[in-house]
Amino acid sequence: MRNRRPALAAIAGAASVSLALTACGQSGAARPEKGGTVGIAMPTRASERWITDGNNVVKDLKGMGYKTRLVYGDGDPERQVAQIQDLVTRGVDVLVVAAIDNRSLGKVLQQAADAEIPVISYDRLILGTENVDYYASFDNEQVGRLQARYIIDELGLEDGKGPFNIELFAGSKDDNNTKYFFDGAMQLLQPYLDKKRLVVRSGQTGLNKVTTLRWDGATARKRMKGILATSYGIGKVDAVLSPYDGISMGVLGALKADGYGSGAKPLPVVTGQDAELASVKSIIAGQQTQTVYKDLRQLAEVTARMADDVLNDREPTLNDNGTYDNGSKVVPAYLLQPTSVDRTNYKEVLVGGGYYTDAELK
Ligand code: GAL
Repeated sequence: MRNRRPALAAIAGAASVSLALTACGQSGAARPEKGGTVGIAMPTRASERWITDGNNVVKDLKGMGYKTRLVYGDGDPERQVAQIQDLVTRGVDVLVVAAIDNRSLGKVLQQAADAEIPVISYDRLILGTENVDYYASFDNEQVGRLQARYIIDELGLEDGKGPFNIELFAGSKDDNNTKYFFDGAMQLLQPYLDKKRLVVRSGQTGLNKVTTLRWDGATARKRMKGILATSYGIGKVDAVLSPYDGISMGVLGALKADGYGSGAKPLPVVTGQDAELASVKSIIAGQQTQTVYKDLRQLAEVTARMADDVLNDREPTLNDNGTYDNGSKVVPAYLLQPTSVDRTNYKEVLVGGGYYTDAELK
């Protein structure tokens, strides 16, 4: 019997987080042989992180004795629906899904429910359906707060410095994380906008004005180029809130093409997320300023463990049962903590933590 509609058991405190992860890391050897296949639907291969995610989840599940089927939707929501439909037809025992369009999966997840296949929403919450059992992700609002905090500190806003010019970028409007990142950042930035210590010259401040479809770097570059042309004839940009490294790279491309990064026009503070290799190198080279590191190894471990628990009729370890309402239900979640990384701590966090080697960052 599948644990199809599990009730929420104990909410784990922070202390149990490392315990859970440790236990997970060792589980492959300690447990009896497992059966079953886990279907994993990832959104795109266009960004390094999702390739890492797919590989990590497969590795962890295989280590626990499961078979896996990993598919990539290549940024096309319809393709992803067809892929999930295929996984359902093939009779996978659990689905792990990182959605491309969070609202396009209702019908196919109903098919999964009818076939009693439990669903774990991976990193991005699937909206508008009861048929999501668990959510494994990071504290997404905290990601935005870390980006905003960095801008505030770098510019010295708390010391009364300014006013400064800032431009705002957000992620894809069909990704539920987008609003969490943006809201988290604006919680901290809005007071400075209200006092005009931060000025958005383009006037583009609302989430609906600043999203970037499919998190595409080229789209962000184009928008930044337009903003520079229309709003910065005189004066310069001092900071850019960017939610994701791919977008940061696009923004930096437009800035550099406009003469930033040389002489009297230093590059602005540019945030990011995911600690992608190109962005970490850019940080080391003094171009992108910051990124938010999310340890994808931990996310994969938590997810594999959730799948294992569900398949063995155990309640997974959870630490949040209130934040993520998908419109049909509050989805019980396990949230990991993100870390702000810049030039000063990348060695300690990324190299010290074994995420990259020194050689990879050369
Ligand atoms: C989000 C994810 C971010 C980033 C972005 C673009 O859903 O949480 O970490 O990867 O997608 O891929």
